[in-house]
Amino acid sequence: GRVAVFMGGDSAEREVSLKSGAAVTRGLQDAGVDAFSIDVTGCLLKTVENPDFDRVFIALHGRGGEDGTLQAILSQAGIPYTGSEMLASALAMDKLRTKFVFAGCGLPTPAFRAMNSVDEVGTIVADLRFPLSVKPSREGSSIGVRKVRNRDELVAAYRDAATHDPLVLVEEWIEGPEYTVSILGEKALPVIGLSTDHDFYDYDAKYLADDTRYRVPCGLDEWQETLIQNLAVEAFRVVGCRTWGRVDIMEDDEGRFWLLEVNTVPGMTDHSLVPMSAQAAGIGMPELVTRILLDTLP
Ligand code: DAL
Ligand code: MG
Repeated sequence: GRVAVFMGGDSAEREVSLKSGAAVTRGLQDAGVDAFSIDVTGCLLKTVENPDFDRVFIALHGRGGEDGTLQAILSQAGIPYTGSEMLASALAMDKLRTKFVFAGCGLPTPAFRAMNSVDEVGTIVADLRFPLSVKPSREGSSIGVRKVRNRDELVAAYRDAATHDPLVLVEEWIEGPEYTVSILGEKALPVIGLSTDHDFYDYDAKYLADDTRYRVPCGLDEWQETLIQNLAVEAFRVVGCRTWGRVDIMEDDEGRFWLLEVNTVPGMTDHSLVPMSAQAAGIGMPELVTRILLDTLP
């Protein structure tokens, strides 16, 4: 049957998704799959009316494509799709509630609070230690994320984050290095270590800068790499994810590891981490996307 690669969309990560979708479509075609891409904008319901495809590879990032709404519609329409189902997608999109699940399961995640208004700055400053990370809870690619070192910066970062999502997460800053664990077939691929001269692995460092450094092998001892791979698989499992994804992890200066989040539709651009990690395991793009696609089979 025909495969539609859903990409683009109306989220703030539209540009990233267009690149992911193009790379996925090319990968599927190179593997001999009859695949084409659809730029999904406007009403999601329209895209499943009289479909000229049999299954969907979801390459949409952010709200509308990665957050469970599309997954619910495709389930209702009886169209198989890649990756996580509705609940895990919705949960993973929401960093704040994902952290409640991590914490509830005893998994390590930086100390955090929800911030609902500027009035809460006093209790947050009393409860958490600077520096802090301020994030729109349901956004991706580090959009609206800031590191803050004092109360004034916290207020400004909150106001900015709240323009992206009224639900704002504040968590204690972990200096890093940052590691990311790609998951394929519910198993961990080789870990990638990230370094940047920016404050953190932000939007520019992810997609624009050419001085971002990626390490595969990640440079950790083998037992440490296994430890964070296990941590990532556990995070993936407790959120209820399926098939593939990517788990972001920070190391503190005492060598402890902390879970940040799970991504259910991680970037698949030519510079993205999941293809890089798969390549390190000897899995090229055509095989990677085919394996993700095969898992949609009913
Ligand atoms: N949200 C971006 C696409 C990622 O996690 O890779
Ligand atoms: Mg994310």
